[in-house]
Amino acid sequence: MKNTQVNPSEEYENSSKHYDLILNPFLNHIRKAVVKWIITNQPKKILDVGCGTGKQISLLPNNIDIVGVDISLPMLKIANKQVPNKCIEADAVNLPFEDNEFDLIISQFALHEKNTKIIDAELKEINRVLKTNGKLLIVDFDYPKKRTILSRILGSGIHYIEKNAGEEHYENYKTWMKNGGLKKIISNIGWKIIENKPFYKGNVNLIVWEKH
Ligand SMILES: C[S@@+](CC[C@H](N)C(=O)[O-])C[C@H]1O[C@@H](n2cnc3c(N)ncnc32)[C@H](O)[C@@H]1O
Repeated sequence: MKNTQVNPSEEYENSSKHYDLILNPFLNHIRKAVVKWIITNQPKKILDVGCGTGKQISLLPNNIDIVGVDISLPMLKIANKQVPNKCIEADAVNLPFEDNEFDLIISQFALHEKNTKIIDAELKEINRVLKTNGKLLIVDFDYPKKRTILSRILGSGIHYIEKNAGEEHYENYKTWMKNGGLKKIISNIGWKIIENKPFYKGNVNLIVWEKH
């Protein structure tokens, strides 16, 4: 069998250079919704898991206490230019933080590309470092509630992008969708959903859970 494993620290080597330029037009309104949620809810200490180029962090007011972690060195190189001293190299399955340290954990488009075992391990770590009553805000691919022609077209566009994102990435995306997408997968942790904002006709969801 062909070995399709990608070294995570080298992933995004090529795409990191154009990542923001290509994806910002599609993600900017979602990132703004995340900023709005944070400003409205005023969490004290925030962690961004899989912060990538640091784009989301760069849109927040400078005085917000936030740290980003990422495993990809090329992405972190850009993050450290975009938001100096806010992002560090760390694996989401082994976070270098104390138990119950954060009031809010955000993670955007970082879970669907992982296999089920890693997703479970990441959620376990998130659970460990998030305070009780803390919030988990995830933006990722989901199944639209209503299947309309437009939602199907947009879903096909996403499918096409994922197909070209690398073999392992695509396999994990397919499993993610087969297992029900964001709401279904994360709901297994049993926390209460306190916010649910769909984008792209529900193909992308911003969901906030409260840890109990
Ligand atoms: C699709 S990018 C999203 C980046 C950013 N959240 C955004 O919205 O633009 C996924 C990011 O998750 C990071 N990532 C993947 N696995 C990780 C892990 N185990 N630990 C930390 N970061 C990881 C990747 O390196 C990449 O930067």
